Amino acid sequence: MRTVDEKSLTDQLHLEQQRIDAAIADWRQWWTELKELGKPHFGEMGMRLSKVLDRLTAHFEHEERTGFLVQITNDAGADPDTPLKLIQEHDELLNELKDLIHRLQTCCESGFSWGEARRAVDAFLERLRQHEHEESELTERGKTFVRH
Ligand SMILES: [Fe+2]
Repeated sequence: MRTVDEKSLTDQLHLEQQRIDAAIADWRQWWTELKELGKPHFGEMGMRLSKVLDRLTAHFEHEERTGFLVQITNDAGADPDTPLKLIQEHDELLNELKDLIHRLQTCCESGFSWGEARRAVDAFLERLRQHEHEESELTERGKTFVRH
């Protein structure tokens, strides 16, 4: 059975996740409006993604510092290496986003095109979605897992 603290941690992390989703939704809406104008804005795209990076960094750090990943792994009876794998994915996702922001900031020198930028962001968002999905699945499994 979950303690009150565990429940409030899960709620806090869930709230952070919703804020990240909202920041991504904002970004998507901005992208759609921009597409209608037909003008690339590398600088602003980088700035907006930096906000996602800040939220994501804090969220991942929170998940790692509180032992949440170990907890959901244990609750779900999953492979004990799972937290390590998830932490590794955090690092990879943050590095990928940092690299993307850097490429947007230096697009003129690096020849990064608008189409490439969009595809890179989409690919990043898909990997992030898969990662978050895996964590929610573990959390859900933990609610029904019965130890023998
Ligand atoms: Fe995570």
